Amino acid sequence: MQDRNVDKSMKLYERACQLIPGGTQLISRRPTRFACGVSPVYAQRASGSRFWDIDGNEYIDWVSGIGAIILGYCDPVVDDAVREQISTGTMYSINHELEVELAEELVNTIPCAEMVRYAKGGGDACAIAVRIARGASGRDKILFSGYHGWHDWYLAANLDTGADQKNASLDSHLFPGIDPTGVPKCLAGTAIPFPYGDLDALGNALDDHHGEIAAVIMEPFRSELPPDGYLEGVAKLARAQDVILIFDEVSTGFRPTASGAQPLVGVTPDMAVFAKSISNGYPMGAVVGRRDVMEAASQMFISSTYWSDTLGLRAALTTLQEVRRRDVPKIVHDIGTTLQSQITSVANETGVSARCEGLSFHPHLTFETDNEVERSQLATLFIQEMAKRGCHGYTSFYLNAAQTSDDIEQTVTAALATFQIIAQGLEKGNLGELLECQQQVESFRRLVR
Ligand SMILES: Cc1ncc(COP(=O)(O)O)c(C=O)c1O
Repeated sequence: MQDRNVDKSMKLYERACQLIPGGTQLISRRPTRFACGVSPVYAQRASGSRFWDIDGNEYIDWVSGIGAIILGYCDPVVDDAVREQISTGTMYSINHELEVELAEELVNTIPCAEMVRYAKGGGDACAIAVRIARGASGRDKILFSGYHGWHDWYLAANLDTGADQKNASLDSHLFPGIDPTGVPKCLAGTAIPFPYGDLDALGNALDDHHGEIAAVIMEPFRSELPPDGYLEGVAKLARAQDVILIFDEVSTGFRPTASGAQPLVGVTPDMAVFAKSISNGYPMGAVVGRRDVMEAASQMFISSTYWSDTLGLRAALTTLQEVRRRDVPKIVHDIGTTLQSQITSVANETGVSARCEGLSFHPHLTFETDNEVERSQLATLFIQEMAKRGCHGYTSFYLNAAQTSDDIEQTVTAALATFQIIAQGLEKGNLGELLECQQQVESFRRLVR
């Protein structure tokens, strides 16, 4: 095992905390989400499946840019297309034909897409979709399930409505304890959560707010496939009350199929939202949907300078074409199933009760224990020991098409050594003493897990 430290990363993070409120721009990039003090915090460069941190350490990246990297870092085809685009201008005072070409690509690729608007990120795209749904329906309230970004419409869910549970609506959709500071109080009661997988709960929520709900927005799935008939049931309930159904496909993206989640689940929503993997690391997002719903946006003020910059458009068009040409869904499925069976097998070998399971294109590790503190210690120890062996990640794995059998082999070898340490810790009852960092803050608790 190579001797590594992340001293430069940690010093830079100290400087960042003096200058940047919260330290990072994305909560998922906070060092406390990993093994703080052991995991890398700042990257210097990346290529294919790997990145190098500012301390000179090399890592296999099992987070894939929090899902944005689907083809691999610095993909030569996408990057060459973007470089060529830069040489002809990144944006202009007028429009570029790529805007129409990408729209055609999305309409040809995604089942529910008849018209398209663009954005620069997932939260942005969700906010646009919600605005269009409100405008098209003339209604204000939104039912949601899952994570949909940082905007007022969504965080309004945690405003006090006088009900029993204060600031708790987002607990199981995002993470507990979010204070909606800065979100206008008059939005209280406009964003209402429903639990994933429970059709009765959704039906009741729709009935309770009959005639007031503009849209149901939800992640079609995250860690597991939906229960049989669930999404069909959601679509039926929504349609019965003329409520617009929006699938937030920002995280599922183009790993399930080259057309996103809709062909896999067999349900076509009224609208869908994409970002992250749509453009392999370049800022881009898209809102797509049925013509009669989307057309309402032509009468609404939804407008921004950089939404149609040529780099995001070119990166997205090329990425979508490459995902299809290389059959990336099959590649990530194969990586995922191999990873799941081999990691579960080395856990068994060491006697640690853990399974690598879930969706093949987004596997996750589950430690079988009822003890919450122990579970958190196990997760942190796993992240810590894997980082020391050059594998950067959480206990879940975001896959990309540049990950190789060598990466899997190195990762499984690291996992074996990690589980051996965990097994000893469990036997001696000293897991806590094996931690060289504070316990990981598991901020995102989504849908199933
Ligand atoms: C389902 C979903 N929607 C929206 C977002 C927000 O996307 P972004 O971070 O690009 O604003 C995310 C981010 O993880 C997501 O997973």
